[in-house]
Amino acid sequence: MEETIVSAPGKIILAGEHAVVYGYPAIVAAINMRITVVVKQEKPDKKYTGLVKYALEQLGIIDKVKLNINSELPVGGGLGSSAALATALVWAIKKDSSQAEKDQWVKIIEDFQHGKSSGVDQTIVREGGWLRFQQGKWQVIKLQFKAAILIDSGKPKESTGEMVKMIAEGRHEAEFKKIGELVNNWRPELIQENERLLEKIGVVGEKAKKIIREIEAMGGQAKICGAGGVKAGSGMILAVHKNKAKLKQLIDKNKWKSSEVRLGDEGVRYEN
Ligand code: PMV
Repeated sequence: MEETIVSAPGKIILAGEHAVVYGYPAIVAAINMRITVVVKQEKPDKKYTGLVKYALEQLGIIDKVKLNINSELPVGGGLGSSAALATALVWAIKKDSSQAEKDQWVKIIEDFQHGKSSGVDQTIVREGGWLRFQQGKWQVIKLQFKAAILIDSGKPKESTGEMVKMIAEGRHEAEFKKIGELVNNWRPELIQENERLLEKIGVVGEKAKKIIREIEAMGGQAKICGAGGVKAGSGMILAVHKNKAKLKQLIDKNKWKSSEVRLGDEGVRYEN
């Protein structure tokens, strides 16, 4: 039976999450944590659920394919796992379609998961590298920011869609505008200011704030890097410090779960 293998990267939003939904720019990078999907044209041996079920139903092949999914990305960590999965599925199943058609399918699946999505996640998953994204348009950018430390503040209770909806109900235009200005002049030194603005709009939970304050207290900077969450965890925290060893000591001392990622990985690709 014919088999198609596709892998797609996760991503970190370096600056601009949430504001990007309202037309402000964001800076985003693909990371070297990927999701790999193997699609075989065979009758499935199990029932699909969630995003996979929705995607296969939309694509009209729910009882025609067998899937094997292998992910290095935590679900709900703000690392774009749903966009990577949706992209890998669509590229495998709609192999012969045009890119524009594939994009439309990914958007349908992303919107099911995210509610109103800006499109930043699906664009970086497709393109890879580093991008500046605004209102559906994107430019490749070159950043010296090539590696990052991520600290797990815990899985959010809220979905991305719920967080986006919560923010839509508030009045945050002033903060979004400041985030947009910050993105246009982005450098790692602005991570702390971006984090403060995210806290102001209310997407950062107490656990994440505590971790971030400790990093700041020893001279580093940190921010959440996705939709966030306030009821429990806020997903992955991006942490930087001039002295990486010092940051690692703090992580070890607190027994925080962390990982080092490389930025700028390749976008979605066929593996066979
Ligand atoms: O947490 P994630 O990976 O789903 O990040 C979503 C980024 C948002 O700006 C919150 C939503 C969007 O569609 O841009």
